[in-house]
Amino acid sequence: MAGGGDRRVVGTLHLLLLLAALPLAARAYSRAPIAWTQEKNYHQPAILNSSSLRQVAEGTSISQMWQNDLRPLLIERYPGSPGSYAARQHILQRIQRLQADWVLEVDTFLSKTPLGYRSFSNIISTLDPTAKRHLVLACHYDSKYFPHWDHRVFVGATDSAVPCAMILELARALDKRLLSLKNALDSKPDLSLQLIFFDGEEAFLHWSPQDSLYGSQHLALKMASTSHPPGAGDTNQLHGMDLMVLLDLIGAPNPTFPNFFPNSARWFQRLEAIEHELHELGLLKDHSLERKYFQNLGHGGIIQDDHIPFLRKGVPVLHLIPSPFPEVWHTMDDNEENLDESTIDNLNKIIQVFVLEYLHL
Ligand SMILES: *[C@@H]1O[C@H](CO)[C@@H](O)[C@H](O)[C@H]1NC(C)=O
Ligand SMILES: [Zn+2]
Repeated sequence: MAGGGDRRVVGTLHLLLLLAALPLAARAYSRAPIAWTQEKNYHQPAILNSSSLRQVAEGTSISQMWQNDLRPLLIERYPGSPGSYAARQHILQRIQRLQADWVLEVDTFLSKTPLGYRSFSNIISTLDPTAKRHLVLACHYDSKYFPHWDHRVFVGATDSAVPCAMILELARALDKRLLSLKNALDSKPDLSLQLIFFDGEEAFLHWSPQDSLYGSQHLALKMASTSHPPGAGDTNQLHGMDLMVLLDLIGAPNPTFPNFFPNSARWFQRLEAIEHELHELGLLKDHSLERKYFQNLGHGGIIQDDHIPFLRKGVPVLHLIPSPFPEVWHTMDDNEENLDESTIDNLNKIIQVFVLEYLHL
């Protein structure tokens, strides 16, 4: 019957609206303030208008990134190699020269590998270590170890030199705004930015829980046992991670990024919306709405990567890895020649806007 049917629809709608409103209602009416560790669940972006989007698009430079950030990383840099040391020095120097005065930490440790004990060094760059909450951008800077083949060397351009260069370019392009966030005198924000460059993501021989994710496994354990904010009794550095945005395998043409996790889906939707808006404003190159990078399609399963040790400990994650992987993945052709400049430039713009919106800058 039509009437009964309608009532049922209305009833369901009410229920859905009620469910959607529950977290906000709980926040508005409960007498106790929300614990700071829960604030990430209610955090809203400050959405940029079109003039701000234009400013971001004009403020980032793919040619500067290419020359200054990316090229020096396009070397063999498996853990413990001379190139690994050079890559690490490069990342540290690029961040040290910025005005925002990042606090840098190198987390060096030994781990057993199928090739014996090896040394690894994660790099952690924190804008304001006293801030309770951090948006985290992460990539791995090691390249996979391959024996040289016909004098060719594996440089892992998409895997993950480009993601690391994108993060360095973000820190450069947003330097002044990040400095102002750090120096906000009136109301010191409790939310800041952290950059993590993992070592030892790759397996030395065959991917397994014992032979992969050396740096992220080590750092997740270490952060879980480090009190945060400093001196806190019952909260640790992982509580301080609002969201880990992990970039991997970026730089090939026509990537599509699926959404992996329901608890970060609303942030994935921001990426979709920002891509759309930048497109409408004509600020993306060689870009079509029929082939959007961010498409909220489900994905069959999760992909093993540096987010896993953090995800297991409850950190919300946005895993920005294309599916399917680039065609050049784990081949000698994953090099500068096969990178797509427009795609990288477009993604730089999208991710920079995302970070500004998240941090309310
Ligand atoms: C856009 O946002 C910026 C920063 O909040 C503001 O200064 C500016 O007036 C806004 N522009 C328009 C056209 O609304
Ligand atoms: Zn790889």
